[in-house]
Amino acid sequence: MPQFLASTAKGLVDPLEIELQKLGFSGLKKISAGVFFDANWEGVYKANLQSRLASRILKPVLDFPAYNGDDLYNNLRKHDFTKYIDVKQTIKIEATIKDCAIVDQRFTAMKVKDAIVDQFRDKFGVRPDVDTQNPHLRIFIKGVKNHFHVMVDTSGDSLFMRGYRKETGEAPMKENLAAGLLMLADWDGQSPIVDPMCGSGTILIEAAMMALNIAPGSHRRHFGFMDLQGFDEEAWDRVVEEAANQEKEDLEFGFFGYDIDRKVLQMAKDNARRAGVDHVIQFKSESIATVAPPVEKGTIVTNPPYGARLGDEDNLRDVYRDLGFTLKHRFKGWDAWILSGNKDLILDMHLKATRKHFVYNGPLECRFLKYSMH
Ligand SMILES: C[S@@+](CC[C@H](N)C(=O)[O-])C[C@H]1O[C@@H](n2cnc3c(N)ncnc32)[C@H](O)[C@@H]1O
Repeated sequence: MPQFLASTAKGLVDPLEIELQKLGFSGLKKISAGVFFDANWEGVYKANLQSRLASRILKPVLDFPAYNGDDLYNNLRKHDFTKYIDVKQTIKIEATIKDCAIVDQRFTAMKVKDAIVDQFRDKFGVRPDVDTQNPHLRIFIKGVKNHFHVMVDTSGDSLFMRGYRKETGEAPMKENLAAGLLMLADWDGQSPIVDPMCGSGTILIEAAMMALNIAPGSHRRHFGFMDLQGFDEEAWDRVVEEAANQEKEDLEFGFFGYDIDRKVLQMAKDNARRAGVDHVIQFKSESIATVAPPVEKGTIVTNPPYGARLGDEDNLRDVYRDLGFTLKHRFKGWDAWILSGNKDLILDMHLKATRKHFVYNGPLECRFLKYSMH
């Protein structure tokens, strides 16, 4: 069986490995950018539909050393790319390079494109076009220290794009990061989550989808594998049906979101409705200074503003002070997990973290910290 790679954000590789194991995949092998796993194509459809943490599911096809354009071109010719698409379909090459003799990413992408379109031209007398917006086939090439990895994408748009989030506040987090935080927090999936600074609601919506067993990709209309030759529609229908059969209609507990900004709360409500989870989440406009526990016991998972993108640091000191005060005095007996990209602001909470993970929110290294309010 061929190996595939589930790629993800730095910091989420460990929970992704656990997730793939739970989904029934074997041959798991972690690398810094994701987890390799064994699967047939039906398994690839399932990973695309059901992985909450993966950014993409990729099929590694070539590994080779290269020091110049000819090396790239000649090695690319060793794999038959004409089997993936029809010549009338389109391609896009995405190249990233680090510490290589070849320094230009655009040059790399162009050489890869030349090698691939020449395969088509040799075989059919015509070549596929490039489409940088909505290609049928995406090829990723990554060069590190003159060693190049070539991968065929099966996802299309990145998998964090679930399809339910049309509107966001100023600093939303990616959906797969929100799901990853819930896994890093060891949330049991069966108890309330409170996000007192919920913005567009991503953490709560992901939690609700997890609790209701709604597949993360169930609102997407399209995945990259659907455009590839040999797409097995019957196998896809089986995968969708298996996921749909696992969905629950309701829960015996709920989720609670607060934010000071009424406009962003309306977006959160709309997003929750589109995700099909609005019946299990209550949103309310409230300041962190006055929030009180809506239920006796639960877990707080939140992403307060941290200066890099929202507001400025001095104004935020009061927000962190209020957050620390609220947790300490009103949420006794609760665990709180806070994601922050600003370690100075975190000190203003005047609380001591008992656990720490490093994760990336886009390019920003963040701390995900646990506080036990005992
Ligand atoms: C980084 S954003 C949260 C983003 C959210 N995780 C999402 O995915 O959309 C921080 C949120 O804190 C809210 N906020 C700022 N000051 C607040 C306060 N004093 N009380 C409650 N919410 C506050 C902002 O309105 C903003 O929506």
